Amino acid sequence: MKLTVLALASTVAAAGFTPGLGETQTQAFTGNTKTLYTNTPVIPSQTPDLAEIKAAAATATSNSFKSKKTVKGKAFDRYHQIWLENTDYQKAFDQAGLKALTKQGILLTNYFALTHPSEPNYVAAVGGDYFGIFDDIYRTLPEEIFTVADLLDSKSISWGEYQEHQPYTGFQGFNYSRQTDYANDYVRKHNPLVMYDSVTKKPERLGNLKNFTEFHKDVADKDLPQWAFITPNMTNDGHDTDIEVSGTWSYNFLSPLLNNTDFMKDNLIILTFDETETYTEQNRVFALLLGGAIPENLKGTTDDTVYNHYSNIATVQANWGLPHLGRGDVTANVFKFVADKIGSSVTNHNITEHGLYNNFSYPGYFSDKSLGFPTPLINATGTSGNKILPAIADLVKSGNSSVASNSTAGHNGTATGAKASGSAGVAAAKGSVSHNKNGAEAAVVSLGAALVGVAALLL
Ligand SMILES: *[C@@H]1O[C@H](CO)[C@@H](O)[C@H](O)[C@H]1NC(C)=O
Ligand SMILES: *[C@@H]1O[C@H](CO)[C@@H](O)[C@H](O)[C@H]1NC(C)=O
Ligand SMILES: *[C@@H]1O[C@H](CO)[C@@H](O)[C@H](O)[C@H]1NC(C)=O
Ligand SMILES: *[C@@H]1O[C@H](CO)[C@@H](O)[C@H](O)[C@H]1NC(C)=O
Ligand SMILES: *[C@@H]1O[C@H](CO)[C@@H](O)[C@H](O)[C@H]1NC(C)=O
Ligand SMILES: *[C@@H]1O[C@H](CO)[C@@H](O)[C@H](O)[C@H]1NC(C)=O
Ligand SMILES: *[C@@H]1O[C@H](CO)[C@@H](O)[C@H](O)[C@H]1NC(C)=O
Ligand SMILES: *[C@@H]1O[C@H](CO)[C@@H](O)[C@H](O)[C@H]1NC(C)=O
Ligand SMILES: *[C@@H]1O[C@H](CO)[C@@H](O)[C@H](O)[C@H]1NC(C)=O
Ligand SMILES: *[C@@H]1O[C@H](CO)[C@@H](O)[C@H](O)[C@H]1NC(C)=O
Repeated sequence: MKLTVLALASTVAAAGFTPGLGETQTQAFTGNTKTLYTNTPVIPSQTPDLAEIKAAAATATSNSFKSKKTVKGKAFDRYHQIWLENTDYQKAFDQAGLKALTKQGILLTNYFALTHPSEPNYVAAVGGDYFGIFDDIYRTLPEEIFTVADLLDSKSISWGEYQEHQPYTGFQGFNYSRQTDYANDYVRKHNPLVMYDSVTKKPERLGNLKNFTEFHKDVADKDLPQWAFITPNMTNDGHDTDIEVSGTWSYNFLSPLLNNTDFMKDNLIILTFDETETYTEQNRVFALLLGGAIPENLKGTTDDTVYNHYSNIATVQANWGLPHLGRGDVTANVFKFVADKIGSSVTNHNITEHGLYNNFSYPGYFSDKSLGFPTPLINATGTSGNKILPAIADLVKSGNSSVASNSTAGHNGTATGAKASGSAGVAAAKGSVSHNKNGAEAAVVSLGAALVGVAALLL
């Protein structure tokens, strides 16, 4: 026990006060993260029964994007993300279907998930932070927390999700199981945007949250949104099966699409995994870029730049000249071929994966309510020279308590996502991220929270 305490204390201290990646990232916590956190908010789960689901399905409407003009990007016009589950890099690399797909794309050999388990990784992929989430239970992010959807809307770029077997468009329930045997089928924890009130409380946005029936219809109708997040069910994504199933599913799902010229036109697809299976290894996952936007000479190549899930948001920002969220997206690297195409406005960081683990969640609101939601970095310049979304800055300046908390967790390596990715520290060291004057205080608060957690562990 004593060893655990010392290890955790030094980890938090290192994360809080040492700039840079690599060496500072060693995470030596060996206990169960859940036992650390007690002051968590209680959010009632939504579990409608079948009759309620059927009634709601009857009135659900799905949005069409046909009338929207395609907004041209600098390196691609559409960005489609497909996420599989819980697989170590090498296991994915060795799977025949995935191996075959690598011939048509760019394999990212240093792409990192942010933590364990699933839910915080999905939350982070669209919101730029995981806000201390360390489990898979029912969570909602308050309306004041913005996502990539707000960034895309700022330039009228269409976006949507396709979640296999979600029972109807805009469904917000915790799960929808296979009704014959109640096996896991659709699960909310793998649906990133539905966890944000800033999405679900705007009724017109619910029409963008669709299932695979709608996906196939939208492919056929040439009605896909420009940005999409695609999640197969718990069988096909490998969660309840294995890499043979998810790899084969991926090959079979993608093969016809990769032959479809309408689908492929100026499209960038990323096929990746939410996290590794083995918690004691580096959280480095297989990630493959595919699609018509991949330059012919780069097909079948690898890119060893260090990326993480926030790179998806940063790349989309660079491509369409979008503002940022003031969170982990600010300093995440942009995919190299995109950065190369765009040129000097993109400044990627040369960081090493050495010692980068990202294998447990730093504290934040969902593990300790008193930490609040970190204040977005309103003065920061993003990786592509971009500034914060003005609506976020306005909210912060208005003193809105949800986003103007006294917590800087996440920005200065003290708690949540940004530092878990290691990139905030690098940017801070380079001087491109403004320092919040409460940084030192927050570090102490956070360290205190972690130690309180350890005390709980000892009891
Ligand atoms: C965190 O904030 C403290 C106090 O402002 C500062 O001394 C330290 O350099 C910061 N660390 C990083 C990684 O930015
Ligand atoms: C993270 O990885 C390190 C190094 O293998 C290991 O010691 C630690 O137990 C892991 N942490 C968790 C929470 O699994
Ligand atoms: C998918 O969503 C549509 C639109 O709400 C619905 O009509 C359909 O039944 C759903 N498909 C499945 C397989 O649940
Ligand atoms: C959700 O999962 C639980 C537990 O397996 C099951 O009892 C329930 O019927 C599921 N809900 C739906 C709508 O499928
Ligand atoms: C997952 O989807 C596939 C079809 O893609 C279906 O055959 C399978 O039964 C589904 N799994 C569950 C547990 O419902
Ligand atoms: C895709 O096209 C290739 C080459 O034309 C062909 O060999 C392959 O069978 C096609 N795949 C599918 C799924 O249509
Ligand atoms: C990145 O930094 C490493 C040393 O940390 C160096 O060996 C390598 O050449 C650098 N790469 C680039 C592209 O600058
Ligand atoms: C952001 O910049 C403005 C104007 O320079 C300054 O007044 C404000 O204190 C800065 N805010 C933060 C959080 O650094
Ligand atoms: C914060 O902003 C949101 C969105 O504009 C608003 O609904 C909420 O009432 C505000 N809360 C406070 C405490 O100002
Ligand atoms: C932050 O605010 C909370 C409640 O609003 C308070 O309990 C806590 O002491 C404050 N922390 C600091 C470092 O000011």
